[in-house]
Amino acid sequence: MPKKKIIIGNWKMNPESLTEAKRTLTKIKKVAGTLRKVDTVVCVPAVFLGDLRREATGKRCVLGAQDCYFEPKGSFTGEVSPLQLKSLKVKYVIIGHSERRAMGETDALIAKKVKAAIASGLSVVLCVGEQVRDKDGKYLKQIEKQVEIATADLKKSDFEKLIIAYEPVWAIGEAAKRPAEPRDVFEMKIFVKRILNDKHGKKASEDTRFIYGGSTDDKNAESFLHEGQVDGLLPGRASLDPEKFGAMLRIAEAI
Ligand code: PGA
Repeated sequence: MPKKKIIIGNWKMNPESLTEAKRTLTKIKKVAGTLRKVDTVVCVPAVFLGDLRREATGKRCVLGAQDCYFEPKGSFTGEVSPLQLKSLKVKYVIIGHSERRAMGETDALIAKKVKAAIASGLSVVLCVGEQVRDKDGKYLKQIEKQVEIATADLKKSDFEKLIIAYEPVWAIGEAAKRPAEPRDVFEMKIFVKRILNDKHGKKASEDTRFIYGGSTDDKNAESFLHEGQVDGLLPGRASLDPEKFGAMLRIAEAI
């Protein structure tokens, strides 16, 4: 059976208030609840997770976090543990987003977080992506390293809970020059699947979902899902606009 598409909104450090967060999520949920072939995930700031739990109780729209630590509890000021996320019924967590890598997260730290989060029962959205796309193909080495290190310690059964999000840094956020081309995303999917196949076997490679993020919106969603042949999308800015995000969900449903 083909897997359902998954659309994961990354709100980043937005919005400013809980009231606004509730309003936005309620509108998103209204659309998500009508769809059968799409899993909707909204990754909200950790501080809102407890309050938004009630707004996202339906199976078709669940909450995700944007990061977590690798220890279950203890003296780690400011961190949030995977078990704490689980206790709030959070199902997904983004790990290794380029904005966190830019704050100093290493591949080794990301690997520990991925392992701990999956061991706690969370599904992990592991972000990988190159800074620049050079003509000599050096960026492929960068992706290979990110994927290999982050998945090195995973068991074969862990891959069912792994989603790899290709997010080229040059295509993300306000400063983005342009989104990637769907064709490039498809090639990256093949490349990442091959790495997983070589290192962890066919089943692990097949179990892992591959999605794209980086300036996705209601205008380009169809081309990434269709030509790019991705299992889903990870929009940032567009996920804060219920109209745009809702349109993306409907596009994924119709694919
Ligand atoms: P963007 O962000 O859609 O605003 O480019 C995507 C992301 O960083 O996850």
